[in-house]
Amino acid sequence: MRTIAIINQKGGVGKTTTVANLGAALALAGRRVLLIDLDPQTHLTLSCNVEPDTDQLSIYDILIDEKSADEAAVEVEKNTWLIGSDIDLAAAETELANVTGRELILRNALSAMVGRYDFILIDCPPSLGLLTVNALTAAEEVFVPLQPHFLALQGVGKLFETVALVRDRLNPKLSVTGIVLCLYETGTRLAGEVVADLRQFIENARGTVVPWAHARIFDTVIRRNIKLAECPSHGLTIFDYEPRSNGALDYARLAGEVLGKLGAVEQPATKCGMRHKIPR
Ligand SMILES: Nc1ncnc2c1ncn2[C@@H]1O[C@H](COP(=O)(O)OP(=O)(O)OP(=O)(O)O)[C@@H](O)[C@H]1O
Ligand SMILES: [Mg+2]
Repeated sequence: MRTIAIINQKGGVGKTTTVANLGAALALAGRRVLLIDLDPQTHLTLSCNVEPDTDQLSIYDILIDEKSADEAAVEVEKNTWLIGSDIDLAAAETELANVTGRELILRNALSAMVGRYDFILIDCPPSLGLLTVNALTAAEEVFVPLQPHFLALQGVGKLFETVALVRDRLNPKLSVTGIVLCLYETGTRLAGEVVADLRQFIENARGTVVPWAHARIFDTVIRRNIKLAECPSHGLTIFDYEPRSNGALDYARLAGEVLGKLGAVEQPATKCGMRHKIPR
């Protein structure tokens, strides 16, 4: 089982889109995937076509009321389960302020799920607060979606510092697997420059003990594609909404990299009956 926190304290960089569609690609490739919406904005929950704020248990109930993760997980698609969010989650950081061991609640809740899933993908809010720390404590891997534009790198140092702190104090298994370039504008000079700087930053860490010493920039970039922006409002993943789009192609390729396989095989699997290359 791989538990992956998808984090970036910068908003709107593609975290939720990546969790929803990378998760879908992994599920189509036959993996059992649990998605966790750890963001009070509830965007992942809505993307999965699940209504937040109902009687269904949410991540809030796990963090605040010690409910079990098992009870909160709902099946949303073949091979895909969701622990949804709730607007009340916005108050959770304050409610937990005086609770001892508050950084470990998610990890403890997920320990009961070991072996049930191949992947757990945790969608974090755009902050490095307690919710994100809970994700980093529960995960072994970090993926950082990043939109390569001016100032994008500024936040990365702070983000990696937080990962290092959590690794040193709470979770020695934690490391940064990679950076996913999202909303990528192919052929722009700025994107190229930002990526070169980022590559240098990562290269400088090789051979050191920092948690990003083995990180990579994924070869697959997620191009800007309007279909990716449209599909959440239909409660569909890109593979069900527009399986022939660049968005579907990019997330299928990314899943191939995540699975450690570069080749792709034909997979007859999307709901609307179209076929799409999905890595196995
Ligand atoms: N590759 C893409 N092409 C076009 N639109 C995209 C792409 N990736 C994401 N978007 C859109 O950009 C917006 C921000 O993406 P997303 O919600 O995934 O970012 P986020 O990092 O989760 O944001 P937040 O920090 O607010 O949680 C959304 O409207 C989404 O649909
Ligand atoms: Mg989001």
